[in-house]
This record gives sequence, C-alpha cells and structure tokens, in this order.
Amino acid sequence: MAEPILSVQDLTMHYTTRKGDVWAVDNISFDLGKGESLGLVGESGCGKTSIAISLLRLLPDNAHFLGGQIRLAGTDLLKLSDDEMLKYRWMRISMIFQAAMNALNPVYRVGDQIIEALQTHFEDMSVAQARERVAELFDLVGLDPVLMDRYPHEFSGGMRQRAIIAMALSCSPDVIIADEPTTALDVIVQDRILKQMTKIQKELDMGMIYISHDISVIAEVSDRIAVMYAGRMAELASAVNVFERPLHPYTFALMSAFPSIKGEKRELVALPGEPPDLLHPPSGCRFHPRCPRATEVCSKEVPPLEEKEPDHFVACWHPMEANNG
Ligand SMILES: Nc1ncnc2c1ncn2[C@@H]1O[C@H](COP(=O)(O)OP(=O)(O)O)[C@@H](O)[C@H]1O
Ligand SMILES: [Mg+2]
Repeated sequence: MAEPILSVQDLTMHYTTRKGDVWAVDNISFDLGKGESLGLVGESGCGKTSIAISLLRLLPDNAHFLGGQIRLAGTDLLKLSDDEMLKYRWMRISMIFQAAMNALNPVYRVGDQIIEALQTHFEDMSVAQARERVAELFDLVGLDPVLMDRYPHEFSGGMRQRAIIAMALSCSPDVIIADEPTTALDVIVQDRILKQMTKIQKELDMGMIYISHDISVIAEVSDRIAVMYAGRMAELASAVNVFERPLHPYTFALMSAFPSIKGEKRELVALPGEPPDLLHPPSGCRFHPRCPRATEVCSKEVPPLEEKEPDHFVACWHPMEANNG
C-alpha cells in the first residue's frame, strides 16, 4: 500500500461503568490507504461504533484511551488539544452516524443546516457560496438541489440519509466513516445509497471506513475487510480473500449465517450463541466458547494477529485451511 492516509496502531479504549470496565477496543491496528474503502464487520456489540467514535475523539465521558496512536496524514490525533481536534473533525475526518437521519433539526430547512456547518468551518464563505456548495453536494448524493429549501419532514427516510451524507462530505474530508448508514432503510433504498456512496468515494478518491453487521453489505462497498469480534480484530484481508478464503472460523460462520452473498445458494450455518459481555470477556481467544475448532490453547492464550498469507492477517490458533476444505 502507498503511504496510508490513516494509520491506527495498538488502539485500546475502555468504558468505565459501575459494574467494571468494558473492554470495547482492544489493541486494534490497521491502515487505510488514500482512496481506499475498508469495511468493518462484526455482530452487534463487537466494538465497531467504539472504534469509529475513538477515531473522531467523540467519546462519552466514561470512555478512556489506554494507549495507541491514530495518525491522520502523519498527525497523531490523540496528541492534539481539543481545539486542534475541532479543526480536524469534519474538515479532515468526518462521520455518518448510526440512525443519523433522525439527527436533522426539524425546525430548520435542510439546506440551511448544511450551510451553517459550512460557515462554521469556513468563516469567509458567503451565503451565496455556501448555497452553491450545498447544491453541488445535493447533486453529488443524488438529491435535486431545489430540495435544499425544504424541511426535514418533507423528506423521505432515504432522502434525509442522503442529506446527512451530503453534510458529512461538505468539508471534503480525507476520511469518512459511515456507521451502519443505511440499516434503518428498506433494502431497495439501502442498495441505491450504497451504490451512490461507493461511487462518490471513488470519484472523490476519499478514504472510507464502512461499518455494518451485515457482511453482504460490506462485500458491496469494501476493497478490504476487517472482521471484529468482541473488541478485537479477528481477520484483515482484501474483500476477495475474505470471501474466497476466510481463515478465521468466526469470519466463516459470519458469512455462512447470511444468505447468498453473490446470489449463489449456500447452506446456512447458524452461528450459535452471542458475542460475550465485554465486562467479563472470555480468556484467551474471545471467540473460543462459540468456536467449533477450539482446543485448550484457545481458552488460555490470546492469538496474535499474524500474516498467514501475503496481506491476509488472522488471529487464530487453528485457522481454516485456505481452501476451507
Ligand atoms: N457509553 C458506554 N458505556 C459503557 N459501555 C458501552 C458504552 N458504549 C458502548 N458500550 C459497550 O461497548 C461494547 C461495544 O459497543 P459498540 O462499539 O456500540 O459495538 P457495535 O457498534 O459493534 O455494536 C458493547 O459491549 C457495549 O455495550
Ligand atoms: Mg454500532
């Protein structure tokens, strides 16, 4: 990979609660290339949103970084003051939140909300310039620019989500994080927005981290895929390798649990049980209580993330055969 635009090293973050610490992001490392799309996938509760809000430093008060680096074009975001971070957020790295379509303020016109965001970051921008930019952004996300003077209640769910995407793109960030941006929408709208996001990301040559619990969605948008399990990274490889030769039993199970990735018939294998409570994660490999391949070592020692094949990383004591035979 050429010089990555974003480089995350040994990132560890936990939440403190009355019952104890929740180990939501445990020693996560990955790079994102310029113009690359990285999919982050895993069941609900695996720490995907926690990684996203760590990257933007938008953490709740009970969250604490225990270590690591987040380098954006060489600058460690964890070393910036809060004021400096304000300049990076939205300008250099921005995010579309889970269920974001409900985030528009109902009493303001949709366009005006984006204009306000633009003028906050570009103090010299006139209203006319901002309106022109909003029209451009609406066009980009597939909304008719005349809609900028309408109110959120006049938009469908899909249109509101497009407006939110326009807002996240407004300052032309180097990296955009999309956290389950289409999960609340019906499948047809979801699919259209996915295609549009991929098109925009390639056109703007922007780095994108796309988060979903649905591996078939991730398959559509990602160049590379990181599979998360219980706050840790289980597997990291090109989308092709993840689908054609998954090495981690969790990845294999996750794929088998979703019908027809590419339309072909495959036997649905249920993934029994659920991800662990991160207040008391299992010892060793956190997947071992659910893993059909687990042996004694799995409950005792944490498997390191190792490069088993070129650019194909897996954290498992007993990875699948490359041909899954
Ligand atoms: N503010 C919080 N305080 C305590 N625990 C939290 C908080 N936010 C999330 N968690 C816990 O952190 C873990 C990871 O959650 P999350 O990052 O939302 O996962 P995902 O996005 O993959 O569903 C879960 O166990 C969740 O309950
Ligand atoms: Mg989430």
